[in-house]
Amino acid sequence: MKIGAPRETASGERRVALAPETAGKLAKAGHQVVVQSGAGSEASYPDDAYRSAGAEIAPTATAVAGAADIYIKVQKPYPAEISALRPTTVVIGVLDARRDPDLVRSLAARGITSFGLEFVPRIARAQRLDVLSSQASLAGYKSVLIAASALPKYMPMMMTAAGTIPPAKVVVLGAGVAGLQAIATARRLGAVVEAYDVRAAVKEQVTSLGARFIELPAPQKAEAAGGYARAQTEEEQVLQREALKPFLVQADAIITTAAIPGRKAPLLITADAARAMRPGSVIVDLAADSGGNCELTRPGETVTVNGVTIYGPLNVASSLPTHASQLFSRNVAAFLELIIDREGKLNIDFKDEVVAAMCVTHAGEVRHGLGGV
Ligand code: NAI
Repeated sequence: MKIGAPRETASGERRVALAPETAGKLAKAGHQVVVQSGAGSEASYPDDAYRSAGAEIAPTATAVAGAADIYIKVQKPYPAEISALRPTTVVIGVLDARRDPDLVRSLAARGITSFGLEFVPRIARAQRLDVLSSQASLAGYKSVLIAASALPKYMPMMMTAAGTIPPAKVVVLGAGVAGLQAIATARRLGAVVEAYDVRAAVKEQVTSLGARFIELPAPQKAEAAGGYARAQTEEEQVLQREALKPFLVQADAIITTAAIPGRKAPLLITADAARAMRPGSVIVDLAADSGGNCELTRPGETVTVNGVTIYGPLNVASSLPTHASQLFSRNVAAFLELIIDREGKLNIDFKDEVVAAMCVTHAGEVRHGLGGV
């Protein structure tokens, strides 16, 4: 098979869908790998690293798209790429299919088979190909570094000749993959960490990382399908925000990660609560991509209100592009094992629940994506 990856063009995107390591493994397995010139440069992977791994270099994204049997992207393809693809091509990437019905329709109209990595089922067998987890973990780690470098104080407790400095207090809201990594990172930096998640089931994971779990009156049945949280009712959200406020105003840094797939992020920190924090405190809102957990968050921007700085970073994993790309590529390679047989031929088996769940379009039909499925 000819497997191709272009240079990403979305604003601020520094990752590449195929790192040289994975390109090399695919080439060794007998596939032809073609990568656009400069595809890995933002991730510190020069063209020569791909050549050494046995990949070809093509000049443009459309040249890669026109040649590839399997076209791998980090982000969704843009219209010129879709036009360059052959109908027999398989497209794999984070297609953002829930939010981009036009893209889904145009892939279906071209008869292209596409897989949205955002639809990976959160089951044990799919862990190796779970880009949501690999990228969320990088974001969780980086969020604490953003907070630590913005704080006007130490994070760890420091015992100095001039006396003792107490550790910073970090509150993490949402203890999924990103939140747990944020807790672990803040603990490694010596902060005292408290964490809250609407799914009480995560309490054990939070405490095993050395953080205290914030206990609030638990809503009835907080979990929805697939292990995700269900959206809270408006009434539940009001109670939750009020109950959280005393914990938030004492924090030096808050990392928020609460999300509901396919929906706007829940509001957990009101403008009042943010304003009531001490001057110099920091909020890093990792939910900014889906609207933010803090009322004052401006996605993609940093705002300071009453001395409290609120970061709304977008696509945080992309700020660690070397490892983000390496892990993303390994996830993709694990997915390819599900759709390529031992002879190296395409074999899409819709009886496989992982393959079926991730397929967005096939044979002119939309299988997943439109209407927030
Ligand atoms: P996510 O990014 O969808 O949400 C982040 C966190 O926010 C979740 O823990 C969620 O419970 C929490 N949250 C949502 N609404 C909230 C609210 N109103 N207040 C406080 N917290 C709120 O979650 P992520 O990290 O993608 O994980 C989703 C689920 O998938 C988890 O149950 C996780 O353990 C599971 N998982 C399973 C895997 C596997 O078995 N292959 C791999 C990774 C995750």
